[in-house]
Amino acid sequence: MKLATELDVLFSEQQIAERVANLAKEIEADHQGKELVLVGVLKGAFVFISDLARKIDLPLAVDFIGLSSYGEATESSGVVKITSDLTRPIEGKHVLVVEDIVDTGLTMRYLLDNFATRHPASVKICALLSKPSRARARIPIRYLGFEVPDRFVVGYGLDAGEKFRNVPFIGVVKE
Ligand code: IMP
Repeated sequence: MKLATELDVLFSEQQIAERVANLAKEIEADHQGKELVLVGVLKGAFVFISDLARKIDLPLAVDFIGLSSYGEATESSGVVKITSDLTRPIEGKHVLVVEDIVDTGLTMRYLLDNFATRHPASVKICALLSKPSRARARIPIRYLGFEVPDRFVVGYGLDAGEKFRNVPFIGVVKE
């Protein structure tokens, strides 16, 4: 059976492409003449960051950070571990954190606090998705793709137990 047939579509490939292109244009306008570093949060942001980066017509650096949250598989505990750190210092740089989804916000809270100790010129968040109904920490998302209801979403980099990351749209598993 085809992977995609297991899902109901929430946002189509075309809807995502249009939104990503618009976000990229906003980011481009806000970062003229600035030293920009895109930091992708592994693994869920790998598809988003590759599409986003190619739509931003500015010189920029790309780096990645791996984070894992202790606790249940589908629920963030707020206790976060860096499993793979940045390859370069961000001191004095304008950092744009590229994240797949802000759910409780606890992972982003940890990352913002951690990055603040590294003295970047600025740190902003670009999240493809946000689930505001689940927020437990106030996270300023400067660039947001879409808000989603309190459902577990997959595809376009997001997984359920590693499955569905390679589906080109965002959906929910059919009930
Ligand atoms: P938070 O700390 O609760 O905001 O969790 C953020 C992380 O949990 C995201 O980067 C995802 O990896 C994962 N996550 C939260 N909600 C979903 C979902 O609906 N689908 C897939 N992954 C999710």
